[in-house]
Amino acid sequence: MDTNGDISPAKSERIGVLFVCLGNICRSPLAAGVFLHHARLRGVAHRFDVDSCGTGGWHAGAAPDPRSVAVAALRSITLDHRARQLDARRDFARFHHILAMDRSNLRDIAAAGETLGVAHARVRLLRSFDPNAGCHENGEIPDPYYGGQDGFERVFSMIDSSCAALLENILPRV
Ligand code: 4NP
Repeated sequence: MDTNGDISPAKSERIGVLFVCLGNICRSPLAAGVFLHHARLRGVAHRFDVDSCGTGGWHAGAAPDPRSVAVAALRSITLDHRARQLDARRDFARFHHILAMDRSNLRDIAAAGETLGVAHARVRLLRSFDPNAGCHENGEIPDPYYGGQDGFERVFSMIDSSCAALLENILPRV
């Protein structure tokens, strides 16, 4: 894949979709699970290469937060990810779409891309696809880590509507 301009995959290539948050234990593994869930329902999961990571590496190797696991399990979505940190060189080469949960993540990913001299046209806020977002939460999926289970339910709802719309946006190119 061309790491600078074109983000269109070749016809035979799976479409790379990477979800990125800070710790890679709450929001982004949930987003990856929800996106794949929607792709399975549409019968197109095999066309995608989906993963998640964090801009920070403190939780590398850890399982998803039990609160994310719980909101996913309520919808029969299993999260079996292990946390890892963004590897800009490899991730910019592998993924066509990089979705940041909040503006801080977006800045960090763009900065990592810049040091490599790769364009960051493919890096966007996941919530920019959310038809329900309006100007709520500043267009972000807010960090639920220090809150309770209700915060994870709210985050699930934002992730769900965003991922459904993201998939519909990408599907014409699949
Ligand atoms: P995430 O949430 O970025 O959605 O995975 C967080 C997880 C851990 C921490 C912060 C946010 N932390 O400070 O350890």
